[in-house]
Amino acid sequence: MEVIITDTVDEIGRLGAEAVAQLVSRKPDAVLGLATGSSPVSLYDDLARRVSAGEISLRACSGFTLDEYVGLPPEHPQRYRMVIEQDFVSKVDIPSESVHAPDGLAADIPAACADYERMIRDAGGVDLQILGIGSDGHIAFNEPGSSLASRTRIKTLTSQTRRDNARFFDGDLDAVPSQSLTQGIGTIMEARHLVMVANGAGKAEAIRNAVEGPVSAVCPGSALQLHPHVTVIIDEPAAALLQFQDYYREAWAAKPHWQGS
Ligand code: F6R
Repeated sequence: MEVIITDTVDEIGRLGAEAVAQLVSRKPDAVLGLATGSSPVSLYDDLARRVSAGEISLRACSGFTLDEYVGLPPEHPQRYRMVIEQDFVSKVDIPSESVHAPDGLAADIPAACADYERMIRDAGGVDLQILGIGSDGHIAFNEPGSSLASRTRIKTLTSQTRRDNARFFDGDLDAVPSQSLTQGIGTIMEARHLVMVANGAGKAEAIRNAVEGPVSAVCPGSALQLHPHVTVIIDEPAAALLQFQDYYREAWAAKPHWQGS
């Protein structure tokens, strides 16, 4: 696992976008796994800048969101398919119809989850998965206690996650759905490269548990320790509790240029 500690959120975005740009330069039709929420916004903004500058094109790419709230109406601004449209799709040149999310309004939820798994498989699997992490250690909406082998399914959100996300619903906790459809940890672990971005002191404990804690369903993010290609890009406050932060800085400073992301 590579841990990169940066000074600013913009730098997190730049380095995350650099990993996407390197992928797309060797595989123009890459399959991208797309996190929603605040953490990846600077990464999406940096990709938008690169696309506008003509440095890269995402025209042949496709994308899959990690998760979707259950029960939000199609036009709801916090439906994750809407959020990813606003934060990413509308700013770059990826065709909207190439970006998919689980169907949070499906009448048959197990069938919708199986369909989503099938769509990812049919696309050839995710090449690069962008991840955030919840303050309780969740990845996608795999809350503590989630099976490390789980597949796309319905998951009830913890009260902590609902409280954290109330900021997207004008602070109205009751408006935050209590369930989501989420890629499982087993699904996420099949992506070829995992890029986790996190910032702020509120993520410090989750980052410590994910990067240096025991591999345990208590912290779903800790499953990343079992993946052969993970890049964690964080700022100083999010890195504050890491035991080996000096080593991560030294390794990053000494990284051979040819190694890429
Ligand atoms: C959203 C997702 C979640 C978020 C996490 C952190 O698609 O997968 O795991 O990444 O809740 O959210 P932010 O970035 O808003 O702090």
